[in-house]
Parts: sequence; structure tokens; C-alpha cells
Amino acid sequence: MDAHARLLLTSLVLTGLLSHTTSTITHGNCEKSGQCTYIVRVRPPPNFSAEKSPTSLENWYRSFLPPGMATSELRSPFIHTYTEAIIGFAVRLTKDEVEYVKKKDGVLKVYQDDILPLLTTHTPDFLGLRPNGGAWNSFGMGEGSIIGLLDTGIDFAHTSFNDDGMATPPAKWRGSCKFEGVKCNKKLIGARSLIGGQNSEPPMDDVGHGTHTASTAAGRFVEGASVLGNGNGTAAGMAPRAHIAMYQVCDELGCYNSDVLAGMEAAIADGVDILSISLGGPTQPFHEDILAIGAFSAMQKGIFVSCSAGNSGPFSSSVSNEAPWILTVGASTMDRQMKAIVKLGDGRLFVGESAYQPSNLASLPLVFKLDGSGNITGKVVACEIEGPLVENGQTIKDGGGAGMIILGTEDSGNTTFAAAHVLPASYVNSPDGAVIRKYIESSKKPTASIIFNGTSLGTIPAPVVAYFSSRGPSTASPGILKPDIIGPGVNVIAAWPFQVGPKTVDKHDKVFNSMSGTSMSTPHLSGIAAIIKSAHSDWSPAAIKSAIMTTAYVIYDNKKPILDEKLNPAGHFTIGAGHVNPYKVTNPGLIYDIDEQQYISYLCGLDYTDSEVEIITHQKGACNKGKKIAEAELNYPSIAVWASTGKLLVNRTVTNVGDARSSYTVDIDMPNEIKATVSPTRLEFTKAKEMKTFVVSLSWDSSKTKHAEGSFKWVSGQHVVRSPIVIF
Ligand SMILES: *[C@@H]1O[C@H](CO)[C@@H](O)[C@H](O)[C@H]1NC(C)=O
Ligand SMILES: *[C@@H]1O[C@H](CO)[C@@H](O)[C@H](O)[C@H]1NC(C)=O
Ligand SMILES: *[C@@H]1O[C@H](CO)[C@@H](O)[C@H](O)[C@H]1NC(C)=O
Ligand SMILES: *[C@@H]1O[C@H](CO)[C@@H](O)[C@H](O)[C@H]1NC(C)=O
Ligand SMILES: *[C@@H]1O[C@H](CO)[C@@H](O)[C@H](O)[C@H]1NC(C)=O
Ligand SMILES: *[C@@H]1O[C@H](CO)[C@@H](O)[C@H](O)[C@H]1NC(C)=O
Repeated sequence: MDAHARLLLTSLVLTGLLSHTTSTITHGNCEKSGQCTYIVRVRPPPNFSAEKSPTSLENWYRSFLPPGMATSELRSPFIHTYTEAIIGFAVRLTKDEVEYVKKKDGVLKVYQDDILPLLTTHTPDFLGLRPNGGAWNSFGMGEGSIIGLLDTGIDFAHTSFNDDGMATPPAKWRGSCKFEGVKCNKKLIGARSLIGGQNSEPPMDDVGHGTHTASTAAGRFVEGASVLGNGNGTAAGMAPRAHIAMYQVCDELGCYNSDVLAGMEAAIADGVDILSISLGGPTQPFHEDILAIGAFSAMQKGIFVSCSAGNSGPFSSSVSNEAPWILTVGASTMDRQMKAIVKLGDGRLFVGESAYQPSNLASLPLVFKLDGSGNITGKVVACEIEGPLVENGQTIKDGGGAGMIILGTEDSGNTTFAAAHVLPASYVNSPDGAVIRKYIESSKKPTASIIFNGTSLGTIPAPVVAYFSSRGPSTASPGILKPDIIGPGVNVIAAWPFQVGPKTVDKHDKVFNSMSGTSMSTPHLSGIAAIIKSAHSDWSPAAIKSAIMTTAYVIYDNKKPILDEKLNPAGHFTIGAGHVNPYKVTNPGLIYDIDEQQYISYLCGLDYTDSEVEIITHQKGACNKGKKIAEAELNYPSIAVWASTGKLLVNRTVTNVGDARSSYTVDIDMPNEIKATVSPTRLEFTKAKEMKTFVVSLSWDSSKTKHAEGSFKWVSGQHVVRSPIVIF
């Protein structure tokens, strides 16, 4: 993978439908002067924990710089200094200077700064969250929890962030929001911009992504929310009573690692409970992966981190943000369609989608977009997507085109996107796209019209995995099943800043937009994690993750398995533990907990060097002191193991978080070719928080079995605690 990749926001509207190969931009954070930004990870000063004075820490950091820079009195040489997310700093250096720094004693690693890609009205209802009854009534709406988002900023004035009836922030909150002209409130309790250094500008969102993700996680109830009148309903985030803190670390081009780390630093110091990160770059070993390193520090402080799995599907091993201390979130559809029906000259109909539904487009000549050549004036232009959807339409409109039909690419299966287009348009799926293509090629005078048929709910099957949702197995740690979970990430309607459009909307307080990507599924899970945190303030990040994973569902109401974009049953490397089920998450019965020490044993088991483990964990010589464990031995709520090994024998430990007296029996579901046992087969609990260990034993003929999937479940009268198993 390209070492100079920038993290991108994981939303498709912004980054376009670029394939997995093009999601990296090959320039680091460098200036014309020849200086580039580096993140320098150093050992802490002696007795670091004893003293936390920022000035003396800065002096310590200066001691690693070349003499001229170190003594500069005029201004701080640093872009960012870190103490919470990592011990280290970000600084601009020339090639010679960086060589100097690398040689200094106490420097663990120097990273060249890279840019990371930024990779709802209906979702609460689809997920069973309803104001009167359902999960919200029983378990609350995230009261007292704080969700920090690393994103493009926020529209302070949006109705989704009003604070009517909100409680004051919890006493532990140390964040701030002091600007002229714009104000935070009891909903939006913190807002900072960290782009390019500490900065006093308010983090206004001129991209839209951050406003969208923040409102998806924890937006208030807004009645009559729609995109240009479509998808009308009451908008709400997953945790409408949770507080929001926005850390602006991205612009429309993406997010620099140094700023992302500064956002994590600030969020940890401020005291957030949940970190929602809708961005990510290509997979890397964890000691190279700035996001994974910062997330480890967050986990150490009890902060739950949810991240996008990435938009590089449907290809195998495309998942990113794979560290086991992170919740890795894939994306799927919901049951809503904003129908834009294409009618060909021969009368055939194809149901596509568009969030812009003007009056119907009469039958007009239909042409392919041919590299800008040919006269498209007054025609309907069929094309495959090249870059962002709405811009694609703008180009055609500017060229005189009357309408647009976007043909789903071959890999994209039945996934369709409903965007707020600027001209009459329809996005048709891949099989329909192939038929339309054939029709154009084989007709003398191809024509098409577009009939807008409004929004319909109840589309089945739903959820279906989105083609773009990144897939496992994990590259950084194949023995941990990733992604962990899927949630709604296609055509999600959520808040949008007025000044960013859609341009035809004129009511400042009710602007919403439809967006797709794992950027959109991630804040759904962040909001749900906030609900769990409110209900169980003492649960560790691993316990919250376990609750989300073991209660997920993998079948539809008709008992058939959840499908992928090609309408095949979706495998574990596509959906992880399954689709999130908010009804069940706060009451999982049993949890698989993992403490910091176990993660360290796991990292030692990955055969990282001492210094690589130290970079992540802040512990020197940790692998000499503690024990090493294999990936499969981490007390994870799922199991992934290489087929070539032929067998697996591992312990798992569950903690009783249900009724004090409860009893569970095991139910194993594996193909016949796999010999599988769990021992004991029954767990009897008599106390709350009681722990029980059991052994999972699997064996198979490695010359025959190359891939097998199944699960085991602990079943009581009230609970089903499911763990997926994949042998690959
Ligand atoms: C660290 O602190 C201890 C106790 O406060 C002190 O004895 C020791 O000299 C300190 N070491 C350094 C290197 O400052
Ligand atoms: C839009 O939804 C709201 C409820 O949120 C409803 O009161 C209103 O009538 C709906 N408007 C239309 C045009 O359907
Ligand atoms: C394109 O076609 C339109 C309508 O047929 C015509 O008015 C226009 O002059 C043409 N443009 C060019 C550049 O040929
Ligand atoms: C997938 O798309 C094809 C072509 O539009 C359609 O016939 C089929 O019903 C779709 N399947 C599902 C499950 O939506
Ligand atoms: C369009 O909408 C009408 C009214 O809701 C419905 O009867 C019809 O079946 C829809 N057409 C298609 C092709 O979905
Ligand atoms: C697994 O658990 C058993 C019984 O609790 C214990 O004897 C054994 O040492 C454990 N194995 C590992 C690898 O931890």
C-alpha cells in the first residue's frame, strides 16, 4: 500500500464512487519549501506521570529537535503536541532535519504525515427506535453520554442540534466552545478546529459530512425533515439525548493524520465517552496506524471507539480500522426507496433511485456519455459514475443534458444511491444497467423517460449489504474477524448545513441530505454505543462492543440469511457478527470482556518488536513481563482461524450481566465437516458479574476444508449470546 495515503472521509457522496485503488492520494503534508509534516513518537520524560506541566513537556519535546529549531523563542515550532493520544508531537521538518530527529535517543518512530480519506429521517424507525415504545423507552436515549466526532465541523445553528429539554453536560466534561458569533448549547457541548494546529476558528462545516454524521449519532427530533421533499418524516439520531462534541480535523480533501491525532488528543482530554470516526486509510500494521494507536490510548481511558470499515468493497481483505480495540462498522441498506423509474423506448421499466424528484422527464433521445464528445443537448445521458454523484450530474447539466441515468457498475450488484441531484436523474442497479446498456447499443433510436414515483418504505429484503462496504479478512490481524458489525449506510437522510446546499432548499432550519458510505453507518453505531453507556456507565469499551456483537441479527424475519449486494447470503467477512439490533444491545445477558493487559498480550503474540508494542501501549518491555497470546485467544466475541491449521482449541470467558441466577446452554451451528465442541455445555450463574470460562474446540481436515462458517450461542430463557466462527 502507498505509504503516502491520506485518510479520506468514508462517505461516497464526497469521495465519489472511486474504486479501492484510487482512494489514496499520493502527496503527503508537504510545503513547497521542502518541509513536510512529521509525527514524532517519543518516550515520555522521566517521571512523566508525576508532572503534567505543558511547558516542561514542550521543553522535553524541543529537546528532540535540531538545535536551531529547539531554541527558537519566537513561537512554538510544533503544529501539535500530544500527551493523551500519544506521547509526541507534529512538526514540519526538512529531509536533513528529519534524519537528525530519527537518530535522537528516545525517538520511537517518525511518521510522515499522510492524508486519510473521509471515507436520518428513517433509520431510527427501521432499527426499532420509536419515541413511543421500543428500545428508546426501555433504555433511554443516551442521557448523560458524550459522543465526540472527528469530522469536517458542524452547522451550529441546525435544528437537529437544538437543546430544548437537554440536561446540562456531566460534571466530568472539560471541553470548551468559545467563539464569537456562534454558540454551543447543552446538545452541542464542545466544538474545536484542529486543522493545521491549535486554532481559534469555530469549526463551521463547509463540507456537510460532519453535520450529517453528528446528527446521525445524536441529532434531536425534527419533524417534517426531508431531502427536497423526499423521505419525509421525523428525523432523529440514534441517541437523541446524548451530548455532542465536534473536533474538526478534515476538510473536503480528507484529514491529515497529525490533525486526526490532535482531535483524539482533545477528545480524550475533554472526557468524551464515545469517539465516532468516519474516516480511514488503507490497512497497516497497528504500530504504523496512527488511528489505531490513538484509539488504544482512548480505550485505556475507557472511551469506546467506533470507526468505518471503509468503502473499498466488495473486494476481499479491503477492511481498514481493524484493531480489536476498535468497533469496525460496515454498511447496509434499509427498507426505503426514493423511486425514479426509467422507461425505455421499448416500454421496459427499471426502478432506480433519486432524492431529487421533479416532474417526470418526457421521452428523449438516450445516449452514452462518450468522453465529453458528442452533442448531449436535450438528451438523456447514460453513464457510469465518475466521481461524486451530484457533480457528475452538474457536468451533464452544464453540457446541456436534460437527464441522467447512472448505470451501476458491474461490482455494485443491487446497491443503488439516491442523491439530491441537480437534474432529472435515476441511479439504476448493475443488472438493470447492463440491460439498458444493451438497449442503447442495439437500438437505432434509443429513448428514455424518467418517472418519479416518490418515497416508499417496506422494501424487502432489507438490510442488504452495500457493495462498497469493505470486507475481511483483516490484513493487519487475520485472526480477528472483521468487520465487527453492519448498520445503515446507504441513502441515510440526516442534517446538512444550509450554506452547503442542496441549493434549492430555502428553510435554514430544516436542511437534510441523503448520503451513503461507511461514514454513515459508523455514527449509527456510535449513537447506539452511547445508549449502552448511559444504561451501563461501568461497562468497558470491550463490554459495549460485545453487547453490540452478540445481539446482532443475521437472518431476516422470514429466517433467510442477510444478503449481500449480489443477493448471495452474506458471509462473516462481509457482515461480521451481523446487523446491529438496538432492541437487544443494552441487555445482552453475557459479555466477553477484554482488559488492557490482554490486548498487550495479544500485541506481543503478533510478534511485534518491543518498541513496536511500546509505540502502541506506552509500556516498555511489556512482552518480557507479560505473556504472549495468539490472536484466537483474545477474549473476542467472534472467532477467525486459518483453515490450514486443521484445529483450534481456545478458552473464552463470559461475565454475567443478566439476572444473578441464570443458566445458559450452548448451541453450536457448524457445517458437518467441522468437528466442534464447547465445554462445558452448560453455564450456571448465581451472582451478578460472575465469570465463567469455557473451551471451544474445533477440528477439520485441512486438506479438504478451505472455508467454513458457523457460530456458537449461549442460550437462556431470555438471551441468545451469539459468536460467529469463520475458518478460512
Ligand atoms: C523520579 O521521581 C522519584 C520520586 O519522586 C525521584 O526519587 C527520582 O529521582 C525521579 N527521577 C528523575 C529521573 O527525575
Ligand atoms: C412530513 O412529516 C411530518 C411528520 O414528521 C408530517 O407531519 C407532515 O405531514 C409530512 N409532510 C408531508 C408533505 O408528507
Ligand atoms: C447541439 O444540439 C443542439 C440541439 O440539437 C443545437 O442547438 C446546438 O447547436 C448543438 N451544439 C453543437 C455544439 O453542435
Ligand atoms: C435485484 O435487481 C434485479 C434487477 O433490477 C431485480 O430483478 C431483483 O428483484 C433485485 N433483487 C432484490 C432482492 O432486490
Ligand atoms: C408508482 O407509485 C404508484 C402509487 O404509489 C404505485 O401504484 C406504482 O406501483 C408505482 N410504480 C412502480 C413501478 O413502482
Ligand atoms: C483454559 O481453561 C482451562 C480451564 O479453566 C485452563 O486449565 C487452561 O489453562 C486454559 N487455557 C488457556 C490457554 O488459557
